[in-house]
Amino acid sequence: MTAKYEVHGSVAVITMDNPPVNGLGYSTRLGITDGLQKANADAAVKSIVLTGGGKAFSGGADIKEFGSPKALAEPNLLSVILALENSSKPVVAAVHSVCMGGGLELSLGCHYRIAAPGCSVALPEVKLGLIPGAGGTQRLPRAIGVEPALNMIVSGEAVKSELLAQIPGQKLFDKMAASAESLAEEALAYAQAVSDTRPLPLVRNLPCKHPNGDAYFQFARNMVKGMAKNFPAPGKCVDAVESATKKKFDEGMAFEREIFTALMFTPESRALRHIFVAERAASKIPDVPEETPKRDIQSVAVIGAGTMGGGIAMNFLNAGIPVKMLEMKQEALDKGLGIIRKNYEAQVKKGKLKQDKYEQRMSLLSTTLNYDDLKDADMVIEAVFEEMGVKEKVFKELDRVMKPGAILASNTSTLDVDQIAAFTKRPQDVVGMHFFSPANVMKLLEVIRGEKTAKDVLATVMAVSKKIKKTAVVSGVCDGFIGNRMIEQYGRQGGFLLDEGCTPAQVDKAMEKFGMAMGPFRMGDLAGNDIGWAIRKRRYQEKPNMKYSKTADLLCEKGRFGQKTGAGWYDYIPGKRDAIPNAEVVKMIEDHRAALGITPRKISDEEIVQRLVYALVNEAAHILEEGIASKASDIDMVYLMGYGFPIYRGGPMNYADQIGLFNVVQSMQRFAQNPLDDAAFWQPAPLLAKLAAEGKTFN
Ligand code: NAI
Repeated sequence: MTAKYEVHGSVAVITMDNPPVNGLGYSTRLGITDGLQKANADAAVKSIVLTGGGKAFSGGADIKEFGSPKALAEPNLLSVILALENSSKPVVAAVHSVCMGGGLELSLGCHYRIAAPGCSVALPEVKLGLIPGAGGTQRLPRAIGVEPALNMIVSGEAVKSELLAQIPGQKLFDKMAASAESLAEEALAYAQAVSDTRPLPLVRNLPCKHPNGDAYFQFARNMVKGMAKNFPAPGKCVDAVESATKKKFDEGMAFEREIFTALMFTPESRALRHIFVAERAASKIPDVPEETPKRDIQSVAVIGAGTMGGGIAMNFLNAGIPVKMLEMKQEALDKGLGIIRKNYEAQVKKGKLKQDKYEQRMSLLSTTLNYDDLKDADMVIEAVFEEMGVKEKVFKELDRVMKPGAILASNTSTLDVDQIAAFTKRPQDVVGMHFFSPANVMKLLEVIRGEKTAKDVLATVMAVSKKIKKTAVVSGVCDGFIGNRMIEQYGRQGGFLLDEGCTPAQVDKAMEKFGMAMGPFRMGDLAGNDIGWAIRKRRYQEKPNMKYSKTADLLCEKGRFGQKTGAGWYDYIPGKRDAIPNAEVVKMIEDHRAALGITPRKISDEEIVQRLVYALVNEAAHILEEGIASKASDIDMVYLMGYGFPIYRGGPMNYADQIGLFNVVQSMQRFAQNPLDDAAFWQPAPLLAKLAAEGKTFN
């Protein structure tokens, strides 16, 4: 049992003891009910304190039990709360640090609550596509009032205990402790003071009314609808809280349970819960134990002050880590520095960054033209031109000057990290850190593990990425790593769709309706169509038998590289990002189609989505099988954080799992029959075929 039981004089103290946040797993729930029984059976005990050991009162459900039968095993949370309410001796919850989700619901089942200041109080279930399921929607409005409660439940955001205590007439906290340190003692005294009070107060018996309920809930519903289009849970939060004002307590509880159970099975909640787990799993590398010692990173050097170098430097400055930037020429340094300044100044203007913070960040940045000035940096990230010859020169210099043990990272997006590592006499210290553009904004970081990359280098880079607030995913060495290797297949399907009868706008619209932040052609215009062109030219040499649509090449031959040239698949007005369809491009596609002798056909949105998304999935299955990614959920994180895949679909692998891999494979076999498509590509990856045949899933 993960709860301790002690008796101090006439007060029994039950202390939840399930680090790190006293998750309400089976053994903790059992510990609480067991303590309650002991206390009620002991004549010497007059009252009870329920609290949490360590860093939290309770963070709520135990994520280790997510989705397992244990989560519902009796005593489940509802039963524990009932046992608290039914205790014949008063129970005082002593809350501190973190009191969230099931933890808050648990405290609301106690007769009294005393809180330490600084405690984060929340019902965050909505963030997992759920509503609180153990009375939160019924008891919190009774404790703090309908409007503050609905706000907390719909947003899932934490509010500090001292703020909640200021709500007029609130019944959430009967007393605020003077400090976290004095909480235990004050809780004991409070429990003694109320030991003889009868009847015992219950939150469930408090009134719950809103003076203009109908209007208020209508407004709330409208607001939520606009903000959470693709998620059902926020609207359901409104329904549940409204029922607290209209139904009897037990009926409200039954209604809450009904909604909670239905939401558990929605694809949106599954996706959000999958992401919650995937995000935590991404930082774990199977053969690199968590206790691997990390190298100390106090200062960083960045080589190249271009598009990526500047953004990369900003990440470290934002985290308070000094950066030295190196360029070949002073003008390039000045230009890079100017862009960083402009970025920060824009943030200051928008009120997102304080002037003194801006100055403080800039003071951490220095520049140099001389490699010898970098010798003290703990880590260096190279972001120079994407040419092996240039990388070779840079890494030989770095090998010469950097102190032993420094981490040498490359931001290359296509080159072989093992080859780069071989330019040095310390390949174990070399690693890829593939940032995404704009590097100071995009959350994703692909960490490229070379053949010889040391485990402590990987562990250090993962820890550093957390410091600079990136979601890091480890990828093995291969062309394009995880994300771009998959996007190449996605792009290839986009090309075939144009040849067969689509317009760029039709494909983009279908994908945007599916939920992608941007369709493939708008994305190409943003990233620069010349990048894909360069890759294809390489492929024509390397893989002469690989099938490609030539349409994108024709576009590039016209110099339509995208937003940067003011024209790509679409036209762009300077300073604006709206994509305006261009009749000439459509004509170019039609002419090319005619030249190939293809009669256009009407292609459904469903086919567009399936071909593009399943192209990602099939390539991803190869990536998984080859060990380039260590888990399917890592691939989902790459697409969610770096490629605008819709959150509510949980990433391509989770999406395929939800559709059913059998169905995915069936569709692939159908696509393989299309003579204008690439039959070889649509052979399901062996791993995918195997999982589908066994009725299994990726995740
Ligand atoms: P960029 O052309 O904007 O910047 C490169 C900078 O490196 C220039 O300022 C140049 O003066 C400097 N440079 C070139 N050779 C140098 C040398 N020997 N020593 C010192 N400085 C030198 O290029 P960008 O876009 O920043 O790309 C840099 C790297 O990042 C490339 O490896 C690229 O593949 C990678 N990358 C680019 C992404 C993008 O979206 N632009 C995304 C992810 C990675």
